[in-house]
Amino acid sequence: ECLVLSDETLHDVCQTLNTELNRGLAKETNAEATIKCFPTFVQELPNGKESGRFLALDLGGTNFRVLLIELGEGKFAMDSKIYAVPHDIMVGHGTELFDHIAACMASFINERQLNDELLPLGFTFSFPCAQEGLTKARLARWTKGFKCAGVEGNDVVAMLKDAIARRQDVRIKICAVLNDTTGTLMSCAWKNHNCMIGLIVGTGTNACYMEKLEKVELWDGATDGPQQVIINTEWGAFGDNGCLDDIRVYCDHNIDKESINPGRQLFEKMISGMYMGEIARQVLVKLVDEGLIFENQNCDALKEKGQFFTKYISEIESDKPGDFSNCLSVLEDLGILDATPEDCASVRYVCEVVSRRAANLAGAGVAVLLNRIAQKKVTVAVDGSVYRFHPFFHDMMVEIIKRLVKPGIEFDLMLSEDGSGRGAALVAAVANRSAMERQ
Ligand code: BG6
Ligand code: GLC
Repeated sequence: ECLVLSDETLHDVCQTLNTELNRGLAKETNAEATIKCFPTFVQELPNGKESGRFLALDLGGTNFRVLLIELGEGKFAMDSKIYAVPHDIMVGHGTELFDHIAACMASFINERQLNDELLPLGFTFSFPCAQEGLTKARLARWTKGFKCAGVEGNDVVAMLKDAIARRQDVRIKICAVLNDTTGTLMSCAWKNHNCMIGLIVGTGTNACYMEKLEKVELWDGATDGPQQVIINTEWGAFGDNGCLDDIRVYCDHNIDKESINPGRQLFEKMISGMYMGEIARQVLVKLVDEGLIFENQNCDALKEKGQFFTKYISEIESDKPGDFSNCLSVLEDLGILDATPEDCASVRYVCEVVSRRAANLAGAGVAVLLNRIAQKKVTVAVDGSVYRFHPFFHDMMVEIIKRLVKPGIEFDLMLSEDGSGRGAALVAAVANRSAMERQ
């Protein structure tokens, strides 16, 4: 019951989020604001005419990828390779992380025999960064599972350049650094000109949107160019000042306490894929302890932290009504072999409540951004494993946004098919185009 949010509560969440966004955007309050609203220095959306060959790096989601992208008028080709980032590198020293990234890039370039070209590179770095330009981004703090020493407060572009210089075997021109939300927005805006919001519900959650320059007091870039800029809200940190305490429940507190970044990213911890399975697990364990499910079953695996994966929620909710095949196979994975139909119905209900709360909160966030933009028709570009793989996440979000958005605003949620890689190439291409136009 405590995980079910009423529309009234969600309206309150919207109001609070709007206030926090205003605090992030205002000069006077930004320093203590939890939602940082970083200006991205991306001020123009693509017009579909961008062209060229680009390299892209995509770090911070489920996969680290190196990509080669070719853009021509309305055409697009992509070649990419996924590389592992071992856990000891994720929590080791920053120098090792950037050496690893540079090594993967060098191997990609060698395999494709691109050594002779000086390719422009777009770097998608999906963590909160204070940008000082299109190619300068200081990491504010690590989120999700990363915690490399010596990076917070530093410019990640400079760290990548240093790593490349240490190797001496690749030549690269870094043209842009961006967040995955910006990459997603740019990637969809290439085809859809109403696109003004980028949303991720994946390992983490975050959104960016196009804001009028006059509303961005923080802005200290040029004022004679486009009168707008994409803002990376970093809304994952919503609630870090206690403003969501009324709706946070025991599982949220437990997850936070046991995380690598206690007290941080509290909104993200209620929504995103890194935590959703664990929320469901905590509820299930409570039901077991109260003797309500799995009577006489071996629940040892279920009682172990991290053992109920977020993908299980998508699998269980994909069962047709009355059929529990996926549910039974998940329970089997957990060593629970004799679950009754009532047990399965309870497990499914727990999953539904947890994913609906996540969709409602993310939907409330989108409604706030739509209301701020206040245009008749806006497309929201969306990416991330939760949105992509959960069978009803999209529908649940549409439902709640309709109920929270101001009358007269139309919207649609569009899946970004090609990830942030194409977005990175587009940011680099748009930057090139604008620079040439100004000459
Ligand atoms: C991908 C992007 O498509 O979506 C990544 O290319 C991004 O950069 C990701 O981080 C978010 O999803 P997930 O589920 O991999 O965190
Ligand atoms: C985390 C990061 C943010 C990113 C999001 C989605 O919230 O801080 O930068 O956009 O995850 O990947």
